Amino acid sequence: MYWQPLLAAAAVPIGVNAGAMLRFSCSQLVVDRLDPLVNPGTAPSPHLHQIVGGNAFNTTMDSSVNDIPSTASCTSCTPAEDFSNYWTATLFFRARNGTFKALKTKGNPLGFTAANGGQTVYYLGPQGNAKVTAFKPGFRMTVGDPSFRTAEQIKKYPMLSYTCLQTSMTRGGETTHFPKDTCKVGIMVNIRFPTCWDGVNVDSPDHQSHTAYPSGGRCPSTHPVTIPQVFYETIWDTTPFNDKSIWPTDGSQPFVWSFGDPTGYGVHGDYVFGWKGNALQNAMDANAQCNSDLLGNRINCPVGKEQSIQQGNQCNLKNRVKDPLDGWLTELPGGMPVQ
Ligand SMILES: *[C@@H]1O[C@H](CO)[C@@H](O)[C@H](O)[C@H]1NC(C)=O
Ligand SMILES: *[C@@H]1O[C@H](CO)[C@@H](O)[C@H](O)[C@H]1NC(C)=O
Repeated sequence: MYWQPLLAAAAVPIGVNAGAMLRFSCSQLVVDRLDPLVNPGTAPSPHLHQIVGGNAFNTTMDSSVNDIPSTASCTSCTPAEDFSNYWTATLFFRARNGTFKALKTKGNPLGFTAANGGQTVYYLGPQGNAKVTAFKPGFRMTVGDPSFRTAEQIKKYPMLSYTCLQTSMTRGGETTHFPKDTCKVGIMVNIRFPTCWDGVNVDSPDHQSHTAYPSGGRCPSTHPVTIPQVFYETIWDTTPFNDKSIWPTDGSQPFVWSFGDPTGYGVHGDYVFGWKGNALQNAMDANAQCNSDLLGNRINCPVGKEQSIQQGNQCNLKNRVKDPLDGWLTELPGGMPVQ
């Protein structure tokens, strides 16, 4: 393996199964003010998102109505059978005069520079020979809470963080708040979902209580089923804003989430499962190790079908909500206040 991803970096004793690892690129599908999980049927939803994955993404994605893999005709991800949707909020720079500029995502410099934005997605199986159960059709979940603004609150989600990329290889020094200083290559947002499931419900009213983080390395008895760890790395290109003379005069950092959070503690992610048939379970059972090659074009997966990043770049959706996003904006989309 060429790149050591963060979670697989811990030394694995010889003879112990390292656990499945899929690491792949999902190019930008669309940036839109929709959220079929938290605000189904609502266009516009309260805040802006960047969305990747299958083009069945829609204002409403009720699993009882739509079979995602057969509704989608393309995916922006390199596993060609993955029509899931992955999304996060978007970042803005706030100028001294109070106007906002939308930031762009960029392809991961570690292997996926060809991607037209979007994010890196991982599915990680547990070490050892523990069984990992892939998600069932209709499965969806969120992690994080957009209302959080303090370090104390975010302790509820120990696996959400920011990496200030001084080089593309920077992996240390993760923080739970926005980096306080400039980041030469950009800000990487790390969103790791829980790995335990109640084994029954594909969703729950808060989209979270059917899942749980393990404690002491084990899934709790209420959520006994080990599911793959879904993990997003989204790299925001902050480099046009690295001149400190345009940062706030009080020395604070200038970035805000699309939901008005200037702290970073409100970071959250959304996931709607959409792999075709048993493709994800097969990759987990095969203990597949799928990663970029040196050219970064393919993920070299021994199981399943794949497509190139260039093919993934061609899977796009038109905006449903027409927020103006170019130039300096007098307010965040939807008039979201910064607070
Ligand atoms: C979104 O849903 C509407 C209503 O069901 C449908 O007409 C439309 O084709 C869908 N769009 C996509 C991109 O699937
Ligand atoms: C606000 O600040 C930005 C960045 O410094 C600048 O480009 C823009 O022209 C300013 N807008 C107004 C209305 O002054």
